[in-house]
Amino acid sequence: MSSPTVVTCGLPYANGDLHIGHLRGYVSADVLHRALEKTGEKTAYVCGSDMHGTPIAVNAAQEGMSPKEFALNYHEQYKETFPKFDVDFSHYGHTHDDVNTSTTQEIVKILDDEGYVYEKEIKVAFDPIEEQPLPDRFVEGTCPYCGATARGDECDEGCGRHLEPGEIEDPVSTITGNPAEYRDRTHKFFEVSELSDVLTSFLDQLEGTDNAQNQPRQWIEEGLQDWCITRDMDWGIDYPEEDTDLVLYVWVDAPIEYISATKQYTEKVGEDEYDWRDVWKGDGDIIHVIGRDIIQHHTIFWPSMLHVADYNLPKAICATGFITINGKGLSTSRNRAIWAQEYLDEELHTDLLRYYLTTNGGLQQDVDFSWEKFQNRVNGELVDTLGNFLYRAMLFAHRNYEGTPDTAVSDEVSNRIETACEDFETAVDEYDIRQIGQVAVELAGYGNEYIQRNEPWNLVDSEPDQAATVIRDCVQIAKAVAVLAAPTLPQKAQTLWQQLGESGSVRDVGLDAALEAPPETFNEPVELFAGIEDERVEELDAKLQERVATATDDENESEDTSTGDDEEQTMADDIEPIAEERISFDDFKELDIRVGRIETAEPIEGADELLRLEVDIGTETRQIVAGLRQLHDVDELPGTKIIVVANLEKAELFGVESNGMLLAAGEQADLLTTYEDAEPGEKIQ
Ligand code: MF3
Ligand code: ZN
Repeated sequence: MSSPTVVTCGLPYANGDLHIGHLRGYVSADVLHRALEKTGEKTAYVCGSDMHGTPIAVNAAQEGMSPKEFALNYHEQYKETFPKFDVDFSHYGHTHDDVNTSTTQEIVKILDDEGYVYEKEIKVAFDPIEEQPLPDRFVEGTCPYCGATARGDECDEGCGRHLEPGEIEDPVSTITGNPAEYRDRTHKFFEVSELSDVLTSFLDQLEGTDNAQNQPRQWIEEGLQDWCITRDMDWGIDYPEEDTDLVLYVWVDAPIEYISATKQYTEKVGEDEYDWRDVWKGDGDIIHVIGRDIIQHHTIFWPSMLHVADYNLPKAICATGFITINGKGLSTSRNRAIWAQEYLDEELHTDLLRYYLTTNGGLQQDVDFSWEKFQNRVNGELVDTLGNFLYRAMLFAHRNYEGTPDTAVSDEVSNRIETACEDFETAVDEYDIRQIGQVAVELAGYGNEYIQRNEPWNLVDSEPDQAATVIRDCVQIAKAVAVLAAPTLPQKAQTLWQQLGESGSVRDVGLDAALEAPPETFNEPVELFAGIEDERVEELDAKLQERVATATDDENESEDTSTGDDEEQTMADDIEPIAEERISFDDFKELDIRVGRIETAEPIEGADELLRLEVDIGTETRQIVAGLRQLHDVDELPGTKIIVVANLEKAELFGVESNGMLLAAGEQADLLTTYEDAEPGEKIQ
């Protein structure tokens, strides 16, 4: 028996309703878990609610509740909702329970005993009017690295870095809006900076998505900072030491819940069935599925803790992209989301959403959701390919043979099914969750082609043996489809299983079952999938648009000042409308736009944001002043090709003449450049 695996998924903050942004992660990890089971692995899938952290404390206070009561409400809601989407955790716990409290305190004690924790006086943001410490998201300001507006603990709209207490510039309280001041407080630090070698070799072996390896490598190269692991708050797990009123930072106890939940699973099923020590201390494997916004926590802080406390390090980290809705960033405050409960209320089959969320793009890619795209995938792949094949094949088999014809499967088809099973196994090995779901649909596509090519309806009378073989083949394909589709479409696969006259659960059979003979008889099949009508899509989309419009109106009336919205995905914010007024082609021609190449870049004294550039524009070298200092790495700029408006009138900025203007996109001043090898001086037209 191979050693066991644990699959985990990032814990949801118990801080708001679940939506498809959440479901993408939990369903993906669930599919991986079920697929591992299919290949014969012993695995557990664990998760839990993330109960701590400042946003929960703030939101609870706003609701007039204790943070515990507030978070437990959401915890209960999540626990009920996940199973409705067949997200089947082996154990779903929460970070505030006894097991996690003691496991966390035990681990932190080890970090301390091993000499990796020290105390340091640091500047902590304080609301001087309210006399209140302002940890993390209680404070907002400017990111010291990129200049974007950032939260106290994370540059969520800019460079994405985790920010340490005291780092953020121009701090303002998010509760009162008061300018905050920094005061000295003593906090505990975990010496992550000592562990870059350990982390580098960990990353060298790490499997999963590329982004989970590449981003942390860069952070390590830039030099790791120690990590402040305590906060001035009441809500959290107490730092394990007498005489301190500090609690642990939420990101310390949250991942430890992965261990605690596995322990609780072992308690439930018994050590002989599944022993948490095998995966966390022995030779089992740990696979984390997370959102790409929390790569740093899982590839730097978490393995550091595990290493020092003598636990196993993760074998794989699979980081998913985000979900957009109709091309725009999912935003809970704007109500631009598809809520889990809303989907259930619409009585759409949950397997359809599972399929869409896991097979639309590779795991790393962002996935856009629109009701129309959803309809296209469902109607095209599930109805026309999968459903159509199964219904045709089984109806023919039932009518002519009352079930499975009594003959052998052809070599062609048994080979094709074997290939499908191998593809499935490869997909599991490569954590290619999308491919896990596609294998069954591709096999059904082959089935359609096979039945079309062999035209059994023309053979029944003239060549009965041949007809029987073709249909026998098709029934076998149907059975294989049931087995292979089970992780992604658990309910539909089970229905198909029963239609084939099989007993028991298709979840419980291994891949081998794909080539085992189906029962001799089965009843008339019922179509597995119903198409989604255009009117339905229009109706669903209208509801969504209306919701977003109403939420945006509300927001305009009362600017939303609530602190951090954890699920908010700000990547594709509202796009400015296109200017209504047209300009003539002659007006456009007046612009003399050229390719340039930056030769030198240097800061301008006294101007935080500006750089003085020397730019080769073919005929001459121009001095151009540009607001790039906070947004680009100054040393990287020389050599970069840019686009310059060469006939703009000259200007003077901070006493420096600017002779031309470079073109850049958006707030981050993403520099426009050339696609191929146009040289400086070439005209843009
Ligand atoms: N609650 C965190 C978030 O939503 C994720 C915690 S994952 C764990 O960003 F690793 F801490 F468990
Ligand atoms: Zn930043």
